[in-house]
Amino acid sequence: MIFIDACFGKPTPRTPIWMMRQAGRCLPEYREVRKKVGSFIEMTKNSDVVCEVTLQPVKRFDVDAAILFSDILNLPMEMGLNLRFEAGVGPIFDNPISSIEDIEKLTPASEKLSYVYEGVQKIRKNLDEDKALIGFAGSPWTIATYMVEGRGSKQYPKIKRMVYADPDTLHTLLSLNTKETISYLKNQIKAGANAVMVFDSWGGALEKDKFFEFSWNYMKKIASSIKEEYPNIPVILFSKGVGLYLDDMVDGEFDVIGIDWNTPIEYASKIINNQKTIQGNMDPTRLYSKEATKEAVLNIAKVMKGKRHIFNLGHGILPDTPWENVKYFVDLVKEETSK
Ligand code: CP3
Repeated sequence: MIFIDACFGKPTPRTPIWMMRQAGRCLPEYREVRKKVGSFIEMTKNSDVVCEVTLQPVKRFDVDAAILFSDILNLPMEMGLNLRFEAGVGPIFDNPISSIEDIEKLTPASEKLSYVYEGVQKIRKNLDEDKALIGFAGSPWTIATYMVEGRGSKQYPKIKRMVYADPDTLHTLLSLNTKETISYLKNQIKAGANAVMVFDSWGGALEKDKFFEFSWNYMKKIASSIKEEYPNIPVILFSKGVGLYLDDMVDGEFDVIGIDWNTPIEYASKIINNQKTIQGNMDPTRLYSKEATKEAVLNIAKVMKGKRHIFNLGHGILPDTPWENVKYFVDLVKEETSK
């Protein structure tokens, strides 16, 4: 699998490519299944649907990796928080966490997520042998932002109050999330995932020291626990908004570091200095224009030529992205990096 080889810095005939949120609303075939099933959460709980929707972008775009169709919020949902998605708002937990007592009410989730592991098994059975299946989870900090705020947030007032005024409660929650995430990811690997990825979408909500204390340290534990048991499974990190903290992120056991689109690829490449594989980082909104896509692809390919790289976006694809442009992007990356 060229994706797995690239994760470990082994030579590949070209740069592998896949995209964050490649399964989803930009695909007509996704919208059809979504309409039939009705709710997004129900989709994630049905392993046949999970398998079908995971494979949709692989079929349409011929990317080098499939990412499990699920959500980072299934784990806290199965720990006991009531999750719903509201149009125009996004995810909502009706019973968020505000105290140690709330944390004590949470229950182990890993076994309740058997529908995810069944999905992984089915996908691996139906996916081409040369394509990798990526399992994933949210970072302990990022899922905690939803668990504490109760919904997506711009300012994070509740959890940032905890950071500065009640850090012990937050550390208790983060330790629990870490333990749950480790067994969740290991179960995905046992079911057939070829690589695992940690999404730390809101790491950038923290100033540097607090990022390392409340997010990085827990993600680092996840990476070392997985590498200890599964040294041949690549572990990928995507933290958003932390480009300026990259210099201190090279020492973790992650094989691949995802770079968001705010971080110049030239800068990331200089700091990472080929010690890890870089994954990223085209701005997903460039996909609205083929010209803008081409401009970024040529630049990223030039900067990363001969270096450890997996092509991806700098965050997830937006729902109204024309799928024809996505296909153009994937084909262009393959062509340009084969030269
Ligand atoms: O294709 C893939 O990347 C795999 C599946 C995947 C989803 N969510 C599917 C999804 C993955 C890896 C995620 C991760 C996720 N979920 C993150 C981290 C990555 C990031 O984008 O920063 C976060 C923060 C979430 C939480 C979440 N889930 C939000 C905020 C929303 C609502 C916003 C939106 O896009 O509607 C979701 C819903 C969600 N997760 C959808 C999909 C395809 C949309 C569901 C639908 O309406 O059909």
